[in-house]
Amino acid sequence: MSTPDTSTARTDAPGATTSVTVRVPAKVNVQLAVGGLRPDGFHDLANVFLAVGLYDHVTVTPTAPTEGPRVTCSGPDTDRVPLDRSNLALRAVDALALRHGISPDVHVHIDKDIPVAGGMAGGSADAAGALLACDVLWGTRTPREELLDICAGLGSDVPFSLVGGAALGRGRGEVLTPLEVGGTFHWVFAVAEGGLSTPAVYRECDRLRECRGTGAGVGDVPEPEPSPALLAALRAGDASLLAAHLSNDLQSAAVSLLPSLDDTLAAGMAAGALAALVSGSGPTCAFLAEDATAASDVAVALRASGTCRAAHTATGPAPGATVLRAEV
Ligand code: C5P
Repeated sequence: MSTPDTSTARTDAPGATTSVTVRVPAKVNVQLAVGGLRPDGFHDLANVFLAVGLYDHVTVTPTAPTEGPRVTCSGPDTDRVPLDRSNLALRAVDALALRHGISPDVHVHIDKDIPVAGGMAGGSADAAGALLACDVLWGTRTPREELLDICAGLGSDVPFSLVGGAALGRGRGEVLTPLEVGGTFHWVFAVAEGGLSTPAVYRECDRLRECRGTGAGVGDVPEPEPSPALLAALRAGDASLLAAHLSNDLQSAAVSLLPSLDDTLAAGMAAGALAALVSGSGPTCAFLAEDATAASDVAVALRASGTCRAAHTATGPAPGATVLRAEV
């Protein structure tokens, strides 16, 4: 095994790259401030992303010319991952191939650890992973800005999956500013039975706003802004301070659609978590812990509580999409 010079590696040349594996992280939103519903169906966000060390591994290998792309998947709950052209990883392959005038003849295999439809950007991670893996496999050396542009066209969370670390997402979440983080945070993620649809959770958020009488449109809801105290807590690497400022405007909508999430959140708090919140659009629940020992205790208690299907510990920030292996 060796790492080729990707400037010359082409799948049709002797010594061509035959397989590339990329590791991609999950994310948790330590702040998700949701503005009003825009005319295009999206919501403006102040979205503070933190990448965490729960990973999918995406491997691409060439298929026969003109066979086109296909995807397979291994890991928990993969029966809920679409294996047709609607899979976001295949859409990423198609987009990169189109940009370079290449036939997208690859097999994409996704080894999943990120919860499926769990609010941790698993599908977005797979798209970012497939994009980077194909860029190495095909030797196309796409400039970073262009890769980010393709990511933004695929979905609001995909650019962050590529860059990782911590970042503020504005617009619909795709306009990123990297954030400084002064330490490692210890998390526990409680995986729910089943998933939640992101558009359904945003719709429920709008419905609850209408019910409250505040209105759900851009003119009705204040412009979402990042919390200075939360950004300071990230910069300081201070878990107690971060715990005091975690927030997710989608949480009440996710709990409204899946009320049992309240039991999961309560079980983690009873086990000593500093704070609990729904991750993104859910239904995964995220618990911030003081240190690695406390995180492990919270995970054990959550598993025993019967309020979730699985509980994983992970630290953040974690690096973005990373090439682990390129075989020639
Ligand atoms: O961008 P992405 O494909 O991940 O978005 C999925 C859905 O989530 C959108 O179609 C929209 O319903 C909702 N969404 C939103 N506002 C955002 C991001 C997503 O309403 N900023």
